[in-house]
This record gives sequence, structure tokens and C-alpha cells, in this order.
Amino acid sequence: MLRGAGLDWYEQGDVWHRVAAHRSTSDTPTLPGLSRAVGALITAADDAPGSPLHTRPAWRSAFAHTGRRLARLAHSGDLQRGLRAVLAHHLLFLFNRIGIPGTEQHHLAAAAHSVFREDHHMSSAPVTGSEDHDADRLRAALADHIRARGTFRTAAVEQAFRSVPRHLFLPEVDAATAYAPRPVVTKRDADGAAVSSASSPNLVAAMLELLDVRPGQRVLEIGAATGINAALLAEVVGETGAVSTVEIDADLTERAQRALVSAGYGRVVVHCGDGALGHPESAPFDRIIVTAGAWDVPPAWWQQLVPGGRLVVPVRLHGSGLTRVLPFDRDRDAATMTAREALVCGFVPMRGIDDHPDDVVRLARDVLLAVDRADGPDAQALANVLTYEPSSAWTGVVVGHDDEAEHLDLWLATTTSDLGFGRLRVGPDARGAGAADPALRWAGASLYLNGSLAYVVVRPHDERSDELGIVAHGPESAGLIERLRSALDEWARRRPTQPMVTAHSNPVCDVAGIRRQHSRLVVRW
Ligand SMILES: C[S@@+](CC[C@H](N)C(=O)[O-])C[C@H]1O[C@@H](n2cnc3c(N)ncnc32)[C@H](O)[C@@H]1O
Repeated sequence: MLRGAGLDWYEQGDVWHRVAAHRSTSDTPTLPGLSRAVGALITAADDAPGSPLHTRPAWRSAFAHTGRRLARLAHSGDLQRGLRAVLAHHLLFLFNRIGIPGTEQHHLAAAAHSVFREDHHMSSAPVTGSEDHDADRLRAALADHIRARGTFRTAAVEQAFRSVPRHLFLPEVDAATAYAPRPVVTKRDADGAAVSSASSPNLVAAMLELLDVRPGQRVLEIGAATGINAALLAEVVGETGAVSTVEIDADLTERAQRALVSAGYGRVVVHCGDGALGHPESAPFDRIIVTAGAWDVPPAWWQQLVPGGRLVVPVRLHGSGLTRVLPFDRDRDAATMTAREALVCGFVPMRGIDDHPDDVVRLARDVLLAVDRADGPDAQALANVLTYEPSSAWTGVVVGHDDEAEHLDLWLATTTSDLGFGRLRVGPDARGAGAADPALRWAGASLYLNGSLAYVVVRPHDERSDELGIVAHGPESAGLIERLRSALDEWARRRPTQPMVTAHSNPVCDVAGIRRQHSRLVVRW
């Protein structure tokens, strides 16, 4: 599972350390040979003859799959805790489920941690003593990783990743962290919520590919943060193009400016302001890329994008946080833009005039239902929903682990308009205590009606697929199960892979859709 999640040697050791710390014990008998035995399991190769992993191939593949799925959720920002913390809790639940006593859990985890500690020098030592050489090696490894995931569509974007020295934009972390395939949070607000970060490199690459940016073009980025993406854009547009980037926070603007100059991208124009207003001084733009979660498509973006231009923007399509990167092409009529694909993602929300606070209802300790106030949730009735006994049903709908099913939650949110849609966030403690176990793949996708709630769950169907099920609570749970079941059946019958999203510049236009202050968004399947 840890390898499947893409953790390096040091990170795997850290997960075991966390598990051991959760099960601390004063009883410390010597367990001769335990570290060696655990070490043999940890370092067992998948394909070596006689590998202990061959005895339970289904387990091995299920754990690797779980690791990959958790890593995907972490990359898209859908985990409320760090990936390593979540993995540590998965290991604890597993130990609990198979009935290993706490003391033995501690010994096993401590033995596992010692394997990583003893071998630490082998894997973490840089290949040479030179920091620059190390950064070059790490940069190449990151680009190889993104390539292996199949994200690069063009040589230009891949070359940009092989050129931009990320470590110069992230001086607060070591080079290994700067080049790890994970986001790096660089600023938090007073409550500890992330307000700025270097986004996941794979997501950045995917968005740049969606932007379809060409040499010589004029590009506006909104959300400069570290300046990394602006540097990548500068690489792709080349000397004949122009990149402007807008950042709302003065300290971050200064930081991005400094890093861009020191890394040799002083030609990027860095501006402190609200990106919802664009940057009229540098307009018009062939391309606009937004790197914070937008609630609306404000007038400035329409005005500053050339006809036929492209806007790539993560839009929060629902107040529960359901966000998709949408590559909008400006239609010739200039009053609409259309995106023909969508990318699952998680982003810090835009602040300033596009600010829109999240709405959540607390259902229990460590259990929240993220909702959209436009659906008119009855927060008081919902707050008691988990006090009702659960009812459940399995649907017979089977979804392969590799199926293109990532938009199932958006399907539920947009095709069941007479019901509320929400995302059930269950912390690891509440999940472990059995409060609720919604499917992580769709970030707790749920439907609600008054004080009743139904959410999607999964159980393994075979090694490569899961069956969808429903758990419901509340006075109207039976009806709600039927509604969710028929929505899932309809989804399974059509299996839509991508939505088509049209943004209308007139929010009061005569088309049914998601109404925002400056636009109307219509999702079609
Ligand atoms: C995920 S970070 C962007 C990552 C960045 N592009 C990079 O390459 O590192 C989002 C950034 O958007 C900024 N932001 C939020 N609201 C904004 C707004 N209205 N205008 C401009 N920037 C904004 C945040 O301060 C944050 O720095």
C-alpha cells in the first residue's frame, strides 16, 4: 500500500513511525529476529521468485490499489490529512480488524520503522556531494514520473518541466521535497487552512497541457504563489511570448517576483491584485490560466480573452467543494465558452471579490457534510441524521479500478436536482469507530432530502473492481435509497466519461444551469 501510494523509502519509514507512536507501550520485551523478518517482508520484490508476496496475490494487488487511490485523492487535495497520516490510520485499522493486540501492533510497527532507519543511509544519500547535481537528478526523476503517468501530451510542456529549477521557488523545503510529486503548502491562514501552495506537479502539467499554449502567445496566470507555474509558462511561450501573473497577497507577489528573477525568468510580469479583475494593462490574452478554485467566471476574463482564446480554470461547481479544471474555448458568439472535458482536482479557493465561503453541516464528532446553500439544506434536521439506524443496499453496479468513473459524483450533483448533493467528510477516528465509511473515490458523494441522507459505499467485487452500494439514515431513507439507486443505475447504463460544460456570460439567460453572479454554468452529459 505504501509503495502503491508512491512513498519513497524515508516516507515509508515515517508512516511506520507514526503507527508505532499511536500504539506506544511501556512493555518492551526483546523480540529477536523480528526486525529481520519484518524487513524481509518490507523489501520483498513483487516479481522475485519465492517472494512472500506471491502467497496472497489478491491482497498485494488490493493494497497496492488502495495506496494508488489514496495518493490520487491526496494529489487532488481531497484528503483532510496528509497522505502519510491517512496511510498510518489505514494500517492501524487493518491491524485492529485482524485482531492484533495494541502492544504487538507497536512492536511490528517499531520493527518496520527500524528497518527503514537502519537502511536510511543507503537511499537518502545524494548521488554526489553537489547540490546542483542532486537538483538536476531530482528534476529529471520528477519529469520521468509525470511522463510515466501519461500526463505529458506535448514535448514543450515536458521540456519546461525538465528546465524549471523548482527548488529555487521553494526555498523553505529541501530539494527532495521540492521535486516530490506532491503539492507543497507555502502559506496558511490563522486557522491553519492552506491559502497558498505549489500545486501537485502532475496537476500543473495536466493543466498546462489543457491550456494548449504555443510559443509567442500572451498568457495571464491568476494565482502566482511560488511563481513555478509562471516560469513553466515562460518556458513554453519562449522569448517571443509574454506571461503576466496576478497574486492577491503582497508577500506572495514579492516572493514570486524574487524567485522568478533569481531563476532567470525576470521577463514575467508579476502583479499584486485581485485576479477576478484580470490584468487589463497586459490584455488581451490568448490564454488565461487560473490556479485557485473559482466560484464564478467574472466579466474581466471574458473581456480580456481574445475570441477563440482558451481559459483553463478550476471551477467550484458545487458549494460542497466539487471542483473541476475546465478548459473553456471561447465560442465565436463571444457570449459562451465550452469545455469538452474536465479534470478532477482540489485547489485553495479564490479570495477577494470571487470569495465564496464553504457550507458544512456537522453530523457528529469528526463527521461533516459539505453542502451548497443553493440546494436549501435543512441544517438542523441533517445534524441529527446519523442518530437514525442505517439501512443499506448493494446495487449490482460494478466499477473497475481503472474505469473512467471519476465524474460519478458530478453526475449525481447535476442530475438529481430535486435532491441536495453533499460530500460526507469522515475523519479517520470516526471512520475507524464505524460512524460512516463513504467511498473515498468520490469523496463522500451523498444525496439528502430534508433530514435524510444516503451516501455511496463500495465493496470489492473482484481483484480489479468494486461494487457500488448505498447506506442511508433518516426518516426517508428507504425512498432516498431508491432515488440514489436509480441515479447510479442510469449512470451505469450510460457510463458518461466526460461532461460538457458551457459557461454563459449572461447569468440570467434562459437556460437551466448553475447560477452564479456573473455567469451561468450548464453541465451536459
Ligand atoms: C494553489 S496556489 C497557485 C500555485 C501557483 N500557480 C504556483 O505555481 O505555485 C493559489 C494562489 O492563488 C492566490 N489567490 C487566491 N485568490 C486570488 C485572487 N483573487 N487573485 C489572485 N490570486 C489569488 C493564493 O494567494 C495562492 O497563492
